[in-house]
Amino acid sequence: MRPLVATIDLAAIRRNYALAKLCAPGRKAFAVVKANAYGHGVREVVAALAREADGFAVASLEEAVEVRAVQAGARLLLLEGCFDAGELPLVSRLGLDVVVQDDRQAEALLTASIDRPVNVWLKLDSGMHRLGLTPAGVRHWFTRLRAAHQVAEVNLISHFACADERGHSLTDLQLERFLDLLDLDFDLRSLSNSAAVLTIPAAHMDWLRPGIMLYGATPFAELSAVELGLQPAMSLTAQVISVREVPAGDSVGYGAAWIAAGRARIGTVSCGYADGYPRHAPSGTPMVVRGRRLPLVGRVSMDMLTVDLTSLPEAQAGDSVELWGAQLPVDEVAHACGTIGYELLTKVTARVPRIYLCAD
Ligand SMILES: Cc1ncc(COP(=O)(O)O)c(C=O)c1O
Repeated sequence: MRPLVATIDLAAIRRNYALAKLCAPGRKAFAVVKANAYGHGVREVVAALAREADGFAVASLEEAVEVRAVQAGARLLLLEGCFDAGELPLVSRLGLDVVVQDDRQAEALLTASIDRPVNVWLKLDSGMHRLGLTPAGVRHWFTRLRAAHQVAEVNLISHFACADERGHSLTDLQLERFLDLLDLDFDLRSLSNSAAVLTIPAAHMDWLRPGIMLYGATPFAELSAVELGLQPAMSLTAQVISVREVPAGDSVGYGAAWIAAGRARIGTVSCGYADGYPRHAPSGTPMVVRGRRLPLVGRVSMDMLTVDLTSLPEAQAGDSVELWGAQLPVDEVAHACGTIGYELLTKVTARVPRIYLCAD
């Protein structure tokens, strides 16, 4: 078997969820499990959180169907609402909560023929300018949806653009615009992603929406997962499958992009960009062999990458290589690659087997 595996610590995810709840006593929390639970495996993550999670949030009806297959009763929120009016009957049958983020979605709901009324989350565009209604639009639809037989609760939701940059002025403005609507008698309110859960108590409202923090990565550039008390959930582990000496001046890998300054000992590692490891990772990106951080050298290829073992003479073929995980935060690897932990985690491809360490 090819030695590459993503080991998922389900107990860590449960502890991280508990930490989110601890940040906002008395509030409820949708565990955000879209994009295959940020790459961790949605069925396993939902099953692991089944007892304590108040609800789950996903990006599409297809994802909701997968969650419903393991969680019959939990509150389940469609974060972007329906993409098509034809989805509403199934939304109603599955008992989903649904975001309404524009006039089209609101009108579709008012003309839908559904037996069971749905909980609506009216989405305010408080400044992100991606989805959502104007404040006037929220006021308009609040009244109309309140009176509709297709609608049970009418709730308010919005999303921060810069909560991961502490003290950003747009965050204050977004919070103000959200609060300005609270003269309306919403059943429930939700505003906080992980960054806000962790650092903006004034935004906690009734329902939190933590995503990245559940998986033990940080939403912040300046504050590490360890500093936040989060535990990494995924370790991506490969193996050194070949070792060779490379003379000074010789190159390694495609494009001869890295040249050995002195005599070097190069290990070839069983992970490549077809597994989700970023092809653009520069030489110097860290990985861990025998507890030591060692640098990637040369270009990442489809199924393999290369590591400089020169400073670790005892390293040999068969050694395990942690690309990120318990010993090396995914956020550090992401930083070296000019991206964020979210992208690395969600891009681990289907050909990488996931192995689950069971929840407590
Ligand atoms: C609407 C919405 N809420 C919550 C989240 C969770 O955000 P995070 O993973 O930063 O906690 C996301 C993620 O992108 C989102 O789109």
